Amino acid sequence: MLAGKKVLVGITGGIAAYKTAEVVSRLRKLHAEVHVAMTKSATEFITPLTLRSLSANPVYVDLFDEPKLWNVEHIALAEHVDAVIVAPATANFLAKIAIGLADDFLSTVLLATRAPIFVAPAMNQAMYLHPATQNNLTCLRERGVKIIGPGTGFQACGTDGIGRMTEALEIVETLAQFLSSRKLLKGKKALVTAGGTQEPLDPVRYLGNRSSGRMGYAIAQALQEAGAETTLISAPTDLATPSGVNRVSVHTALEMFEAVLSRFPEVDVVIKAAAVADFRPAVQAEQKIKKNGSNRVLELVPNPDILAELGRRKTSQVLVGFAAETENLLANAEDKMRRKNVNLLVANDVTKQGAGFGSLTNIVSFLFPDGRKIDFPQMSKHEVAQHLIREIANLLGVESKE
Ligand code: CTP
Repeated sequence: MLAGKKVLVGITGGIAAYKTAEVVSRLRKLHAEVHVAMTKSATEFITPLTLRSLSANPVYVDLFDEPKLWNVEHIALAEHVDAVIVAPATANFLAKIAIGLADDFLSTVLLATRAPIFVAPAMNQAMYLHPATQNNLTCLRERGVKIIGPGTGFQACGTDGIGRMTEALEIVETLAQFLSSRKLLKGKKALVTAGGTQEPLDPVRYLGNRSSGRMGYAIAQALQEAGAETTLISAPTDLATPSGVNRVSVHTALEMFEAVLSRFPEVDVVIKAAAVADFRPAVQAEQKIKKNGSNRVLELVPNPDILAELGRRKTSQVLVGFAAETENLLANAEDKMRRKNVNLLVANDVTKQGAGFGSLTNIVSFLFPDGRKIDFPQMSKHEVAQHLIREIANLLGVESKE
């Protein structure tokens, strides 16, 4: 099943390290080429010899060891593998990779690789639930790292709770599914917009909105992972560009309009997840506007509606729009779908708990011009993106083998 796939298994210093022997063994049974890198602490729990025997490859621990297979080994390995799984991933190791430390072989490879990274956290529940660990996991998730588990149950420290490493079988199934999944959108070109545009008032102020960009970034990552050549036109956000995605940074709606329209003829699909300002200040002051004690009236002029313009110009492209609503969700969304001539409209009520701007999750419905409607429960923005990929593949006429 995984013949020809190269996996790096990273092991860090937790008691669950003994279970990783089974991860390696199962990957080998699926015919994957397996390499193992261990932190020094991991070698206290399980010996490199065990992993060398099971993986049939040298095991990496020290950055300064004599090279085994390649010359500059941490870089060669980083470029060689199709995926990395760190299991168990301790709280300490998660913190290290969240800030990009590279002080041993494994953390250095993780910084150098562009392959998808999976981590299976394992630790005492208090350590797992600590805000520091949770922040690190959020940061990694936003960067596209896939988190497997942890599970709940008896822990080696004697407590019962969340923090158990996911079982080897499930880890391997997750990896195998990811690595063997057909690249649904291979050969397709995709354009995604994300974030909230900023419309300047003067050199230091702008009109903006609460969009975090998370939905659009999750979509860009999912498109890229599905094999599409992906360009992300992004208004300012705090998010890291998903690996392999070509990002074009813009500030204003007009800049986004130019960036999108100029690329539109060459692409197969456009997903307009950005929150575009409908208006901009009529005048942008050259100097900082000074207060003078009296009221100030701001004149706004309309921005172009980018999606509606794409809807007018589209030939064979699949067009996906979003509707962020605060009332009459379905009626407003259906109206937008027709007015803007889109093939799929993602509707969400941004006032709902767990949905909309700034949230890590979303609650959406997909609407189609033929009257079809799919309602989804609350799920992560990455999961919404996965569902979107499947529908886009259908709309593009790509057969999905699920
Ligand atoms: N959109 C766009 N250009 C604009 C405004 C919106 O491309 N100037 C796109 C958004 O990216 C989104 C969709 O249109 O995909 C709907 O955005 P939304 O803000 O929900 O709706 P509006 O078009 O602003 O409509 P309304 O003012 O009626 O809410």
